[in-house]
Amino acid sequence: MWVLLMFLIGFIIVLISHWVYRWQNPKCNGNGKLPPGSMGFPLIDEVKKEDTILNETVAVNLVFGLLFATFETTSTALTLAIKFISDHPQVQAELTKEHEDIIKSRQRKDSQITWQEYKSMNFTHMVINEIVRLANIVPGIYRKVIQDVEINGYTIPAGWLVMVVPSVLHVNPDTYDDPLTFNPWRWKELHLGTKTFMGFGGGVRLCVGADFAKVQLAIFIHHLVLNLRWSVVKGGDIVRKPTLTFPNGLHIKISEKNCAVE
Ligand code: HEM
Repeated sequence: MWVLLMFLIGFIIVLISHWVYRWQNPKCNGNGKLPPGSMGFPLIDEVKKEDTILNETVAVNLVFGLLFATFETTSTALTLAIKFISDHPQVQAELTKEHEDIIKSRQRKDSQITWQEYKSMNFTHMVINEIVRLANIVPGIYRKVIQDVEINGYTIPAGWLVMVVPSVLHVNPDTYDDPLTFNPWRWKELHLGTKTFMGFGGGVRLCVGADFAKVQLAIFIHHLVLNLRWSVVKGGDIVRKPTLTFPNGLHIKISEKNCAVE
């Protein structure tokens, strides 16, 4: 499995390198211009400049990193959302009620989800916090020590690289009662602060996509509980190595709900 994964990652890196090279080289691809709307365009322009820190390797790493940061994270969180909601019928019932109430109190029935509606999804936000807390999608985040730091009698010298492991906070029983249990209701009492919750990191390097990811999850849950019926038919086992993976996938049988919500 690992060999296959490494091969896949290697293949993606080679593919991206190839694209970067082709887009960079004016002899390739006609006049060397990227297709309109291509996300690599500003990056390639930058690589071509003489006074830039960006070289081809940095550009490839950046594109690869962005793919991981934007795709892997959200898809894992969505999979976990389906798993947790399926495993906890009470959570599903409360979510369904919250979203049905939103539709019932909507003035224009054909309207899309509004910002006000999104803000009113209190239980959904609790479910999302709980998913992100238990997911620990990013197992470690890095910081460079810029000056000596004293902690419990130890000195971390300037220049060292420190890996912060958010899951240590997320399963701390002093903060989270029965920490390994999926319990969205705990967030009624809890308030997010980076000393107790670092699912999206913290400080100036906080995940730039955090709010976007939360909106995505909320909209996904909205359509899932309102419009669809599903049941898990296979898989759902979780293995951390160290990122969260589903070795047998999560196979679901899905169909549209027959009864429309009034
Ligand atoms: C559930 C979804 C996601 C989770 C759990 C997550 C988590 C994280 C974490 C823990 C970090 C490290 C923050 C730090 O060092 O303090 C990070 C960084 C980052 N994330 Fe996310 N992320 C998610 C979705 C996204 C999405 C959707 C995007 C973009 C649309 C995104 C873009 C980024 C970027 C660009 C960084 C690097 C920020 C920097 O170093 O300044 N993330 N994310």
